[in-house]
Amino acid sequence: MFFSGIMEDLVLQAVAALKKLDPKDIRVLNAIERGMARYEIVPIHQIARLAGLNVEETSIRLSKLHKLNLIWRSIGPYVGYVLKVTGYDCLALNALSKANIVEAIGRKLGVGKEADVYDALSPSGEKIALKFHRLGRTSFRQTRRYRIYVGERRHISWLYQSRLAAEKEYEALNLLYPKVHVPTPIGHNRHVVVTSYIHGVPLYEVKELDDPKELLDSIIDDIKTSYKIGVVHGDLSEYNIIIDPESSTYVIIDWPQWVPSVHPSAELLLKRDVRNILNFFRRRFNIRVDLESTLNYVKSSS
Ligand SMILES: Nc1ncnc2c1ncn2[C@@H]1O[C@H](COP(=O)(O)OP(=O)(O)O)[C@@H](O)[C@H]1O
Ligand SMILES: [Mg+2]
Repeated sequence: MFFSGIMEDLVLQAVAALKKLDPKDIRVLNAIERGMARYEIVPIHQIARLAGLNVEETSIRLSKLHKLNLIWRSIGPYVGYVLKVTGYDCLALNALSKANIVEAIGRKLGVGKEADVYDALSPSGEKIALKFHRLGRTSFRQTRRYRIYVGERRHISWLYQSRLAAEKEYEALNLLYPKVHVPTPIGHNRHVVVTSYIHGVPLYEVKELDDPKELLDSIIDDIKTSYKIGVVHGDLSEYNIIIDPESSTYVIIDWPQWVPSVHPSAELLLKRDVRNILNFFRRRFNIRVDLESTLNYVKSSS
């Protein structure tokens, strides 16, 4: 591909830009973020007011942020700015670094439809994973249409959607850890969730297992335990389970779309989750387990 590598890597761009920012630049970036709760395009005088800087200094810093590709300038009815994804990444990375959660960013681990995942190091040298939620990035129009339906907030943007997804995922991990095989929740800021790094390969790549029935039973027990705690995954499949063949352990990832067990859609999603897993084990390992009786087991209190 022509535009591959570092130029396309938003997070690495954010990391590089962050090194060039001083605290007042961050204040201006922060001011745009706060302004975006009220304005679709934040006017310069509002940015200056929110940053507590005069308009002249604000303008200079805005030019710098614009050159670093962190913000987008609108020259419509009035000159104003909005954050770009890289700018939002910068704010989250800055906060996670200040909070002593993240020391250094490594390489990209995975690109999903709605997230970019990176490995990183904690200040104590532990390998961790950073998941950057990216919602509404496909189409600006779609985002505009979607936001009408979300809650009572008027300006429901990609920024707000992404933060909501991260908060939701982090909430699930905190409810489930350590009773269910999930990544250890470590921290969260804005649209970024920090967890333990999971060593291994996705289940769909695994062709052979010593005891596939034992793994299936354990996954079903995880679904049961989650359900009891009040969480239905909602996107469970062989793509969201990571297996470490060496230690024969596994982890269930990717929780932002979870619904509470009492949610009207919970039954339907639970059935789909269980069916996905049973289908995979039947196809791949020729293990046949009945869907209805498994569902009864998952929902039973014993
Ligand atoms: N904690 C983690 N440790 C290691 N790799 C991870 C971790 N979380 C996610 N990944 C990798 O990133 C990919 C995408 O993550 P996932 O949470 O499934 O998001 P999505 O599928 O919505 O993009 C995964 O398939 C996996 O390869
Ligand atoms: Mg996934």
